[in-house]
Amino acid sequence: MMKEVEIEKALTYMEPGPLVLVTTFDGQRNNVMTISWTMAIDFAQHITLTTGPWNHSFSTLLAERECVVCIPPAAMLKTAVRIGMVSGTEVDKFSEFGLKALPARTVKAPLVDGCIACLECKVTDYIDRYGFIILKVTRVVENPGCTDRRIIHAKGDGTFTADGESFNCRELMLEKLPPGL
Ligand SMILES: Cc1cc2nc3c(=O)[nH]c(=O)nc-3n(C[C@H](O)[C@H](O)[C@H](O)COP(=O)(O)O)c2cc1C
Repeated sequence: MMKEVEIEKALTYMEPGPLVLVTTFDGQRNNVMTISWTMAIDFAQHITLTTGPWNHSFSTLLAERECVVCIPPAAMLKTAVRIGMVSGTEVDKFSEFGLKALPARTVKAPLVDGCIACLECKVTDYIDRYGFIILKVTRVVENPGCTDRRIIHAKGDGTFTADGESFNCRELMLEKLPPGL
């Protein structure tokens, strides 16, 4: 038996992608924001973030046209939430949350130490109607020392899930897998 519920609940089932930390450098300071609206859009390393002018990071993203998308492990969930509750206009989030910035190679924004992986990215487009920032990944780094491999997923209602059991269906979809994966 199916039961109709509030339309807002659609989001909690469709919330895509990992919860990420997005770093920027405005020419003077590093900043970081939390983004749960993320999506991979093609096999050419284009990804999207949804954000807007209410965030300080947004103006830096459009001005500098680059960032780093970092994938925090489940152990960093509470820090990631706290990062998303304040603006870099009020605090230096790297020192406030004890984050260590590591140098990236293809962008000036920093990597965040302790994350599972970081994607250095250039901004290629901005679709203002939906707040889509389209990014092209220019370099990927992984952190083999990060033993917690659980990627976080936001449900949009203040609750989160972390990766658990994984299933290998590679045999079934071999012809659809891109080279290198
Ligand atoms: C769990 C969580 C998820 C968030 N997801 C988004 C998001 O997808 N898009 C967005 O614009 N803001 C999102 N935010 C809010 C921003 O992270 C927050 O406004 C940002 O940290 C502001 O920082 P800034 O002004 O220094 O850029 C989220 C916040 C939290 C706590």
